[in-house]
Amino acid sequence: MANAIELVGITKRFPGVIANDNVNLTVEMGEIHAVCGENGAGKSTLMKILYGMQAPDEGRIMVNDIEVKLTSPSDAIELGIGMVHQHFMLADQLTVMENVILGSEPMKRGIIDLAGARRHLTEVSESYGLTVDLDDLVETLEVGERQRVEIIKVLYRGADVLILDEPTAVLVPQEVEELFHNMRDLKAAGTSIIFIDHKLDEVLEIADTITVIRQGHTVATVKPGDVTAHELAELMIGSELPSPQTTASTVTDEVALTIDGLTVLDIDDRAVVDNVSLRVHRGEIVGVAGVEGNGQTELINAIVGTEPQSSGTITLFDNDISLASVAARRGLGLAYVPQDRHQEGLLLAAPLWENAALGHHTRPPFAKGIWFDREGARARTEQIRAAFDVRTPNVDVPALALSGGNQQKLIIGKEMISDPKLFIAAHPTRGIDVGAQAAVWQDIRDARAAGLATLLISADLDELIGLSDTIVVMLRGRLVAILDPAEITPRDLGAYMTGVAVQQGAA
Ligand SMILES: Nc1ncnc2c1ncn2[C@@H]1O[C@H](COP(=O)(O)OP(=O)(O)O)[C@@H](O)[C@H]1O
Ligand SMILES: [Mg+2]
Repeated sequence: MANAIELVGITKRFPGVIANDNVNLTVEMGEIHAVCGENGAGKSTLMKILYGMQAPDEGRIMVNDIEVKLTSPSDAIELGIGMVHQHFMLADQLTVMENVILGSEPMKRGIIDLAGARRHLTEVSESYGLTVDLDDLVETLEVGERQRVEIIKVLYRGADVLILDEPTAVLVPQEVEELFHNMRDLKAAGTSIIFIDHKLDEVLEIADTITVIRQGHTVATVKPGDVTAHELAELMIGSELPSPQTTASTVTDEVALTIDGLTVLDIDDRAVVDNVSLRVHRGEIVGVAGVEGNGQTELINAIVGTEPQSSGTITLFDNDISLASVAARRGLGLAYVPQDRHQEGLLLAAPLWENAALGHHTRPPFAKGIWFDREGARARTEQIRAAFDVRTPNVDVPALALSGGNQQKLIIGKEMISDPKLFIAAHPTRGIDVGAQAAVWQDIRDARAAGLATLLISADLDELIGLSDTIVVMLRGRLVAILDPAEITPRDLGAYMTGVAVQQGAA
């Protein structure tokens, strides 16, 4: 069979690092080819080279067995290669349709043919079961929907080689299943897919062929039937994967967070959080499971204070914080890791010491009276860097210079270092590599042992089951089940999350 893509001897050097060192990759026509490897292994760089975004220092690129030179993504698109990036690149202020046609507007007699675009777009999205409302503003979409828009955008441009860079990192299991379903349909229609991922079970489920990259080198190309997850892990990182498992219970009788009858209404007066009651004790991790869009985000926002509640009370130890400002809640010991590092957690262009001050800038060591204390901020950031193993040349580099894992360690460090009483962690290890993931798990376990009360929202069910002392399930705004993580499998949990399984008397 002909090869859709062949990368031969690709080498790419950046100052101080060889991102790709003589990498080879052969993708057959119509196959799903997984490229896996730890963060920093060189996967995205290789894909950017194939997509014409970066020029290789050495090596050759063949498309349909013909050598090509790519000087920009438009060259790649011309050859039928499309890429969905790790970080989405949509314009928030535009609609789905505007985003998709942006840059390739179909013209008819000198004007944009919107009706034609709509027809074509509907055809593309329907034929692959990629449902999304074309007139929604992108800023209103959930992560899974944004990703669908990115995929549609690529298909709309006629891609027959689709590059997906870590698409599952941002999805819940049901969305992953949906994505896999879409990928299988695309494959059946003849599309070749290059799928970047570092989750072994997913790779083994979906891939026809797997290429493993480690520290810029191609380590192996294998068939999923010929390797176990364990062997694949060893190929990727050279040792066994860390596990989120917690040890003995540290749950105390002292209630840290009390939520009673909490209801949050959306702009249409629909209850997105519907009469939720919940307790989190000192030393306890309560995990919140749920398919994205079932009220978890609004629940967190109500606790943090960024979204008003319509009824119910929230109490932190003895303080009713239902109406308190975000700053007042933080002052009482609330720490928060937001679900989207890039939109909420960091100022990407600002230096690390400025980022470390986010949410804490009115208090020492960041403030001296009414003034921001730069030296205090820098010293505190140095402390965080050491205690939470944030790998960076110095604290003056901008946040965007750090890998996702190190950005997350900075966020968790700046929250943990102020000895909080309640920790709200939303997807704390989403999209970060296994090493950083293990470090974050350890930070959360250490804080639990020291008495911190934690509310953990995660789409990674192994993480949720491994770390939590108690799991509650949210469905359509309500708590529909309270489960013991020691007695539940990810599969059973998924059944509660989708409403297939129902717990008597819970809601
Ligand atoms: N534009 C760049 N400038 C400098 N270094 C880079 C750049 N892009 C990637 N790197 C470095 O190259 C290595 C591989 O990165 P990347 O391809 O993003 O890995 P992966 O996608 O497997 O996580 C990393 O050490 C990264 O820091
Ligand atoms: Mg990458």
